[in-house]
Amino acid sequence: IPVESFDLVIFGGTGDLARRKVLPGLYRRFLAGQMPEDARIIGAARSDLDDTGFRDMIREAIDEFVSDDKRDPKVIDAFLAQLHYTPIDAKGEDGWDTLAKLVRKDVVQAFYFSVGPSLFGDLATRLHKHKIANAESRIVVEKPFGRDLESAKALNAVLADSFDEHQIYRIDHYLGKETVQNLMVVRFANMLFEPIWNAQYIDHVQITVAETVGVGGRGGYYDKSGAMRDMIQNHLMQLLCLTAMEPPSDFEPDAVRDEKLKVIRALDPVKPDSIVRGQYNADEDQDSYIAHSENPESKTESYIAMKVDISNWRWKGTPFYLRTGKRLKGRMSEIVVHFKEVPHSIFGEEAGSKANVLAIRLQPDEGMDLRVTIKEPGPGGMRLVDVPLDMTFADALGPEGADVPDAYERLIMDVIRGNQTLFMRGDEVEAAWAWTDPIINGWTSRGDKPVPYDPGTSGPEDALMLLHRDGRRWREIK
Ligand code: BG6
Repeated sequence: IPVESFDLVIFGGTGDLARRKVLPGLYRRFLAGQMPEDARIIGAARSDLDDTGFRDMIREAIDEFVSDDKRDPKVIDAFLAQLHYTPIDAKGEDGWDTLAKLVRKDVVQAFYFSVGPSLFGDLATRLHKHKIANAESRIVVEKPFGRDLESAKALNAVLADSFDEHQIYRIDHYLGKETVQNLMVVRFANMLFEPIWNAQYIDHVQITVAETVGVGGRGGYYDKSGAMRDMIQNHLMQLLCLTAMEPPSDFEPDAVRDEKLKVIRALDPVKPDSIVRGQYNADEDQDSYIAHSENPESKTESYIAMKVDISNWRWKGTPFYLRTGKRLKGRMSEIVVHFKEVPHSIFGEEAGSKANVLAIRLQPDEGMDLRVTIKEPGPGGMRLVDVPLDMTFADALGPEGADVPDAYERLIMDVIRGNQTLFMRGDEVEAAWAWTDPIINGWTSRGDKPVPYDPGTSGPEDALMLLHRDGRRWREIK
């Protein structure tokens, strides 16, 4: 079903994010018939391009970032015809009057700030000064949303000067991932899990986002950020919230975001010995973390493993272990719920016992896997084994299950629909920083250094110890 007509202005429309994710995502929605024929996408950036130049650039981006089976030359031409471009100076007045004439007043207006946060204020003010935005226009902003609580508050304040909270869409692209949304459906649309989704029945939870890629050409940004700011404060925090939150009364934006916020506020401060930071060494090509950093002494971490405790009735005593890192041995994101063992085994100790494990695989190979205990086949006595009840969505749902839309496709369409459920609210972002700040400040004041780890491994040895000392083990990264 097509969404209502819109004008989407992408500031920074010639940038990496726009070319890699936003415009290819919009093309796929166009292909799926979701973009109305009179909707327009207007690129606005510093480059002195015209419509044709911009269309050529996006044609190349589609060739590069959209899979072969989705590239139909006729559809691409039709999509590109809905693209426009106007040069703009974010810090001056050039180009704004032209933009004001271009943007229609009688359709949904969305302004995507695909630029550094230092320009948010300039753009927000000029959109009003030139009477382009109105009380219903939407603005979309990306991470990094600040680098600590203070800067996040300042950004929220800058945006709040020009826009109401209901107009601000803060993207965390993990919330747009199909399986992340599925996590809420698994929890709240099945009777099976929710009654035992608490500290009484769950021993611990592991959340892993492992990447094989390194920091590559993003060394400049990454070195000032590190895994804590780049991944934990946002993506892993969101996964933790969705796993741990109370059932919202409905799937409305504030109902969901209120529950996530309560989780963040219930997080205990993290003790220094509950965190392991790592930085990857050189591989055979001498490609180390340091090789990408301007600072040969950099203490920035490319890996984190941590134990997080939640002080509320549901979770007290059940730790959440989070880990994420670059240049690891596999690309694997999953949320794994380890249930407790049965209180008493009627089969005796010699039969063995296994605890149930529910793994929700976010990527790749999206699906779920529940390990249940059964009798080992055979005549000799009663021995127990655990077997997987495995459901790969692509197998279970047929070709449509394999066709997982990219996170950005879903999120941009939600902006047009005016649905903020999968976007972060300002207070949520601030609460997440309020929890991360003392951890990062502790490293800085103590001068802590990350421990080295070899590329292609599961990360530093110390991370294994973090669980061993609690009598637990990480799932293998594959
Ligand atoms: C981004 C981080 O937000 O998420 C990157 O800045 C990271 O460092 C990326 O690689 C991971 O996203 P995905 O969708 O590939 O898991």
